[in-house]
Amino acid sequence: MWYPLVRAALFQLPPEKAHHLTLNLLSQAERLGLLSLWPSVPDQPVELLGLTFRNPVGLSAGLDKNGDYIDALAALGFGFIEIGTVTPRPQPGNPQPRMFRLPEAGALINRLGFNNGGVDNLVRNVERARYDGVLGINIGKNASTPVENAADDYLHCLERVYAHADYVTVNISSPNTQGLRSLQGEEALTRLLAALKERQAQLSGEHGRYVPLLVKIAPDLTREEVEGMAGVFLAQEIDGVIATNTTLAREAVAGRPHAAETGGLSGRPVREGATRVLRELHQALDGRLPLIGVGGIDDADSAGEKIAAGASLVQIYTGFIYQGPGVIARANAGIAEARRALQVAS
Ligand SMILES: Cc1cc2nc3c(=O)[nH]c(=O)nc-3n(C[C@H](O)[C@H](O)[C@H](O)COP(=O)(O)O)c2cc1C
Repeated sequence: MWYPLVRAALFQLPPEKAHHLTLNLLSQAERLGLLSLWPSVPDQPVELLGLTFRNPVGLSAGLDKNGDYIDALAALGFGFIEIGTVTPRPQPGNPQPRMFRLPEAGALINRLGFNNGGVDNLVRNVERARYDGVLGINIGKNASTPVENAADDYLHCLERVYAHADYVTVNISSPNTQGLRSLQGEEALTRLLAALKERQAQLSGEHGRYVPLLVKIAPDLTREEVEGMAGVFLAQEIDGVIATNTTLAREAVAGRPHAAETGGLSGRPVREGATRVLRELHQALDGRLPLIGVGGIDDADSAGEKIAAGASLVQIYTGFIYQGPGVIARANAGIAEARRALQVAS
């Protein structure tokens, strides 16, 4: 009800300014205890990956890249929070402006390029947070690391975050780091995931705790590519997959202001492609791996659609910017409805 007014005010500011202002205000409100007055999202627990999620609607990676706002975001009712993408060393990302709104399409285009304070900074923030729900940490590579050496960066991040994460996401699908998506090719993927799985096994022994390893994929994949990747995920015993990241496609927004900006398109226009990839992956895996559906969720129906396509959990980024925190409860309701429909059908 009230969010359209807040959004109208925030949308007067450039997107990155609005982003930081909102998150800082939210953080202060949380520290003052004001967010405890927030209407809570009813529990809808999900057991997956050896973890208990309070509800199946999570915050997608990229909104809190450094883990600065974990407690404030959790207080809004997300069932789990994914922070990052984080890289070994701090880096500034691409020159500004690098984030654009396409309000009529309910969309954003960004080419942030993994701007973040580095993995040590993120770990300090996680240590300070009071949040006790499921925390995912999304890892990537520095722009200055040649893609042939990408595994070194992922391994470094995995080691640093292992003790602090409930799950770790390997991001090989951002379109804003040169060459990153080439890691989705079967050979490169096999090499990278084999190295990460070996290190995960060592770390699990050292820490006495198994932290699941998930891979986040792009929506810009053909069915054949999805099937090839599914084979690698099974062969390497990956724990789960997040589908999907932002898209390079522009058909859905052609002719709109900012549509020609370089970067990844998110929000409503990515919904269809993201759900297609999710469904094809689910079919190729025959239900053998847990899937998290993300891309274009902004209401009950769009959340339910991901469950019907094979996801066990969902995540939201752009829909949260456009619809405000109320979208979390609505998405939860859509998922409950989709689960009932699936039970009736089976
Ligand atoms: C501004 C912005 C920054 C993002 N940064 C990241 C990131 O650092 N790592 C990542 O895995 N995904 C990132 N994403 C992708 C989102 O997590 C999500 O996969 C994608 O936007 C599709 O979901 P949505 O339509 O709900 O936004 C970013 C998205 C946006 C809009």
